[in-house]
Amino acid sequence: MRGFLVSTLAIAATLLSTSAARPLVKVHPGTANDIVITNKNTVNATTTALSNGTIPANSSTVQITPRSSTSGRLPLSLVNNFAGNINAYVTGLDKNNALVMLQPDGNWYYPQSDPSATTPQPINGNVGIPLGAQGSTTSITLTDYISAARVWFAAGELKFFTVWNPATNGPSLVEPSAVNPSDPSAGVNWGFVELTNTAEGGLYANISYVDFVGLALGMSLLSGDGSIQTALGLQPKAVASICAALASQGQTDGQEWDNLCQADENGDPLRVIAPSDFLSTNAESFAEYYTEYIDEVWTQYATNTLSIDTQAAAGTVACTVQGSLITCAGDNRGYAKPTPSDIFGCNSGPFAIAGTDNDVHRAIVPRLCAAFNRSTLTVSGGDLQPGVGAKSYYTANPTNWYSAIVHQHEVDGKGYAFAYDDVNPSGDINQSGVVADANPTVLTVTIGGPSTS
Ligand SMILES: *[C@@H]1O[C@H](CO)[C@@H](O)[C@H](O)[C@H]1NC(C)=O
Ligand SMILES: *[C@@H]1O[C@H](CO)[C@@H](O)[C@H](O)[C@H]1NC(C)=O
Ligand SMILES: *[C@@H]1O[C@H](CO)[C@@H](O)[C@H](O)[C@H]1NC(C)=O
Ligand SMILES: *[C@@H]1O[C@H](CO)[C@@H](O)[C@H](O)[C@H]1NC(C)=O
Ligand SMILES: *[C@@H]1O[C@H](CO)[C@@H](O)[C@H](O)[C@H]1NC(C)=O
Ligand SMILES: *[C@@H]1O[C@H](CO)[C@@H](O)[C@H](O)[C@H]1NC(C)=O
Repeated sequence: MRGFLVSTLAIAATLLSTSAARPLVKVHPGTANDIVITNKNTVNATTTALSNGTIPANSSTVQITPRSSTSGRLPLSLVNNFAGNINAYVTGLDKNNALVMLQPDGNWYYPQSDPSATTPQPINGNVGIPLGAQGSTTSITLTDYISAARVWFAAGELKFFTVWNPATNGPSLVEPSAVNPSDPSAGVNWGFVELTNTAEGGLYANISYVDFVGLALGMSLLSGDGSIQTALGLQPKAVASICAALASQGQTDGQEWDNLCQADENGDPLRVIAPSDFLSTNAESFAEYYTEYIDEVWTQYATNTLSIDTQAAAGTVACTVQGSLITCAGDNRGYAKPTPSDIFGCNSGPFAIAGTDNDVHRAIVPRLCAAFNRSTLTVSGGDLQPGVGAKSYYTANPTNWYSAIVHQHEVDGKGYAFAYDDVNPSGDINQSGVVADANPTVLTVTIGGPSTS
């Protein structure tokens, strides 16, 4: 009888929730006219190169003497675990800081731009690198240093554009944008890893979910000393299950978590947008989401001390609410109550860093932001930040369910899901998903989920 009741209730709940579910946001890929240029989908070179890579003598920008081009070699091993054809693309800045893409023959392609064009101009060079079939590994080599680079992977073709940049009399790169459902590449399933490989700093590569989650990618770096660092990335089919989890969260708390998902024309989930990016075009969403939690935090730390470990010279500093602000010892200014957009974006309102801010302030912003995002300020032990470990992240409600659910679908829990995800208690798991080495030997990227053997 009890079982019957429970299952009847479950069916009723399912029916209710089905009727409450909103349709997924469907993408409608457009043309160059539908591109929205922002600082998130552009790369601005500081030098303009001719199409053969030469920096003209009268270039309006600072000329950089090319360094030796022998040691920037970085072999990439691209493992295709995706059931379908994948194209890779490499974008970035060469050692002179000029805009480049990689050609299948291993040479740089130098995109040019048209000063008289009024819409973004497509890059029509030979810049798509087809990978072998599912189960195969394709080896390519970046023959020279590259910075601000991305290695893109797409189940189809991505469209890259340039616009004229008057500051350098040359091209700015316009990349596919995950946030814009009308972007010319919006109907394609894609993702990227970011990397910088310089003579000074060596290789630094990451998988970032700060803005969106798309095609499942993982990384493994064989370092010069023979050690291996990994960030395994998302489980295969993660996007569909993240969308299902967000839809269910939306039904629980009535917030628009489901609208973070974008689907293709058939309604199949393609990608998930981070709440900060969603809010940039849907300003009224999540309006009261954090209000009570923030009030609770303010009440708690009006009478209790919040200790923030700067993990730097200032050591642990004491913070309390004074008047309307959280104020910390040695900090040049206090923190007003954040809005949801401040919390999800971490670079506005009380979390915007000003040029005049001191080191204590600069250390507290990421730690306080991370604490709001992970909702650790009111949990037991939350009066020391960072203090509680990853198992206490996202255990209080409200929280950043995008970040929480994305981390659940990472094979090893690593990969930035928000800007300050590298804030962790010293010695605890570093959730950032970065691999770095001064003498990289080979960077392996797996596409479509990790290899099972
Ligand atoms: C690049 O320059 C354009 C204007 O030419 C600007 O809109 C865009 O925000 C810049 N991108 C970055 C990353 O600063
Ligand atoms: C690149 O092209 C310019 C202009 O055509 C030419 O002067 C220069 O010698 C070329 N550089 C190389 C390395 O081929
Ligand atoms: C550089 O010189 C070339 C040919 O001498 C000219 O066409 C071009 O406009 C000049 N560029 C700048 C930025 O002055
Ligand atoms: C990831 O790496 C790129 C390239 O090195 C860097 O510009 C970017 O800030 C990194 N992202 C995060 C979230 O640290
Ligand atoms: C919260 O997470 C979002 C991603 O969902 C990220 O963009 C933002 O920087 C994070 N905010 C804070 C306060 O850490
Ligand atoms: C986590 O790793 C990133 C990248 O290597 C680094 O910048 C950050 O400082 C690390 N965080 C901690 C707490 O070790």
